[in-house]
Amino acid sequence: MNKRKIDLKWAQTLDGQLCDDSGTSQWITSGSELDYTHYIRSKYQGILVGASTFLIDKAQLTVRRYKDFQGDQPVRIILDPRDRVSEALSNPSQSAMVFSMLLKGKRPTVIIGGGAEPNYPGFANNIYYVNQPIDLSIDNTRLRSDLETALAKAEKLIERDLSSILVEGGPRVLTSLANQGAFDRLFVSVAPKLTGGYKFRIEAGRNLRDSINFELIDVSVRENDVIFEYQSNKDQALERVYQ
Ligand SMILES: NC(=O)c1ccc[n+]([C@@H]2O[C@H](COP(=O)([O-])OP(=O)(O)OC[C@H]3O[C@@H](n4cnc5c(N)ncnc54)[C@H](OP(=O)(O)O)[C@@H]3O)[C@@H](O)[C@H]2O)c1
Repeated sequence: MNKRKIDLKWAQTLDGQLCDDSGTSQWITSGSELDYTHYIRSKYQGILVGASTFLIDKAQLTVRRYKDFQGDQPVRIILDPRDRVSEALSNPSQSAMVFSMLLKGKRPTVIIGGGAEPNYPGFANNIYYVNQPIDLSIDNTRLRSDLETALAKAEKLIERDLSSILVEGGPRVLTSLANQGAFDRLFVSVAPKLTGGYKFRIEAGRNLRDSINFELIDVSVRENDVIFEYQSNKDQALERVYQ
C-alpha cells in the first residue's frame, strides 16, 4: 500500500480536449477556476507535469493566485523521460530562456529524467536531477512503482517531504497514470467550449466493459466552469478539498 498521495488534475473543453490541436493553447478555463487551481495546489508538497507541458506552457506551478497562502511553495517536478529539458539546455537558441524558466519560483525544481543530466553552467542551483527512466506507455504496469522510486530519490536530494503530489498534465502523463489507476483523487474542470481535435486528450483506449470508474466526491461551479472531484477507489474515504 502506497503512503504517498498522488492526485490528478486537468482542464478540458466540453469535447474532451486538454488544449487545441495546435498544442499551444493555454487557459481553457476562467480566471476564477485558475484561482481555485492555485488553492488546490496549496494542499500539495509537489506539483508534477510532463516535460512538454513545462517547455510549452513555461509552467511555474507556484501558488500565486491564492493570496492567503503562507506555507512553502510546492516543489516543481518535471517528468522528463526523454531528457527534453537537457536537450533544450544544450540548444543555444533555447538554453538561456529554459534556464531562467527553471529558476522561476523560490523552491526546488526536480527533473526526473532518462539519464542525460543537463550539462549547463549553474544547473545545480536549486534544480535537481533524478536519473529514473520512466516508460509512459499506457500499459506500463510498473509506472506507479517507478514513480515512487523516483520521488523517494527526489526526497533525499532536496531534503523535503513529497508525500502529496498533484499531477497537472499534460495528457500523456495523465493518460498513463489514469490508465494504471495510479492515483487517489481526480479533479476535472470542464469549460463550456468546443474546439474539436484529437491530439491532446485522455486516451483510455478501453471499452465500456473494462472502463475505469470513479466515485464522485464533489461538484463545484466557478464562473461558467464545472469542477468535478472524484476518487479512484470507492473504498477510500476522501473528503472534499474545499471545506
Ligand atoms: N488542459 C490541461 O489541463 C493541460 C495541462 C497540462 C498541459 N496541457 C497541454 O498539454 C500539452 C502537452 O502535453 P503532452 O501530452 O504532449 O506532454 P506531457 O504529458 O506534458 O509530457 C510528456 C513527456 O513524456 C514523453 N513521452 C511521451 N511518450 C512517452 C513514452 N512512451 N515513454 C516515455 N516518455 C514519453 C514526451 O516526450 P516527447 O516530447 O518525445 O513526446 C514528453 O516529454 C501542452 O500543449 C499543454 O498546454 C494541458
